[in-house]
Amino acid sequence: MNVKGKVILLMLVISTAVVVVLEYINSSEDAFLWIYPSKNPEVDNNSSQKSWWFLNWFKDRTHDYQEEEISIEEGTKGELQLSDWFDPTKRPEVVTVTGWQAPVVWEDTYDAAVLERYYARRRITVGLTVFATGRYIDHYLEEFIISANKYFMAGHKVIFYIMVDDVSRMPLIELGPRRSFKVFEIKPEKRWQDISMMRMKTIAEHILAHIQHEVDFLFCMDVDQVFQDNFGVETLGQLVAQLQAWWYKADPKEFTYERREESAAYIPFGQGDFYYHAAIFGGTPSQVLNLTQACFKGILQDKKNNIEATWHDESHLNKYFLLNKPTKILSPEYCWDYHIGLPADIRNVKLSWQTKEYNLVRNNV
Ligand SMILES: *[C@@H]1O[C@H](CO)[C@@H](O)[C@H](O)[C@H]1NC(C)=O
Ligand SMILES: *[C@@H]1O[C@H](CO)[C@@H](O)[C@H](O)[C@H]1NC(C)=O
Ligand SMILES: *[C@@H]1O[C@H](CO)[C@@H](O)[C@H](O)[C@H]1NC(C)=O
Repeated sequence: MNVKGKVILLMLVISTAVVVVLEYINSSEDAFLWIYPSKNPEVDNNSSQKSWWFLNWFKDRTHDYQEEEISIEEGTKGELQLSDWFDPTKRPEVVTVTGWQAPVVWEDTYDAAVLERYYARRRITVGLTVFATGRYIDHYLEEFIISANKYFMAGHKVIFYIMVDDVSRMPLIELGPRRSFKVFEIKPEKRWQDISMMRMKTIAEHILAHIQHEVDFLFCMDVDQVFQDNFGVETLGQLVAQLQAWWYKADPKEFTYERREESAAYIPFGQGDFYYHAAIFGGTPSQVLNLTQACFKGILQDKKNNIEATWHDESHLNKYFLLNKPTKILSPEYCWDYHIGLPADIRNVKLSWQTKEYNLVRNNV
């Protein structure tokens, strides 16, 4: 490493230390790092009073924003209508509106400028949860966060909630302005299927313990993917689902839903709208809370009945979205797998799958 590199690294280490020591009191807009060693909200269920003092600071600020927002909103026309920003006719070759009138957001269907003005005025904060355990930390986490720092909700306030099983292996990443992250240590699970299913429970606990007070919208994403382009405010909504790249043109009969009646995730042939990808889901904290709680309930029920859904949490997610229709759906451009190639439908890849090196990162393939 050359001298310049060393100096930058040293500055990074020092600035992180300073931020931690000062508890970022005077760095409102700067990146900060905060680590909660093994602080599981399930165990620490009275935490809102004692150990989350700094969240009060957050709450105060959120409060300020809300007050400000009201006074600003008074002079403007208020709620944004779908037709103000969304034009489904711009992409006639693909499905842009669902049977229940929810928009399917494709490149060129939305007016980014209108949306940016609207959300900038509301001074929103968007959360993003990501889980990385075992070898997923070294393999994927750094690239995911670095790319998210650049492309996820660019220009808006973002909090990354990073769940890892070993905080000491957390990569040191410098974030841009208006971005911050919180690292939580989670209990390791032996099977990747359990990691992915327990995620539902962990997200629900964190929403209840603190996330609901910290963000206006929350996304939950898999770590083995990389942002390629702006994943912006056009994706925000009450309850947001992602079309699975391999299935977006398939006949619903072929979807790999859970087809065994004994499972809570069961979807009979002839039902179901789309095949949704568990790699991305989101919405308001209360909607994501309901979703994660319902999915976890289904997972527990299946465990009791000694059955595991074909695609684990994704099967339960698909069942949830069948019963509770998403208010917004993201086109496969928001979660593309280049192994499919690049059909003309896919005009702008926002996020792409990483090569899935399961033999490297999973204990049990
Ligand atoms: C959490 O608090 C409830 C009371 O509100 C109590 O019944 C429960 O045992 C607590 N859980 C833990 C893990 O401390
Ligand atoms: C939580 O803590 C407060 C004081 O910090 C106490 O009065 C209250 O009883 C506690 N609640 C639970 C459910 O433990
Ligand atoms: C929460 O989930 C349950 C179970 O799927 C569902 O019945 C209920 O309508 C949902 N509530 C909201 C507000 O979405």
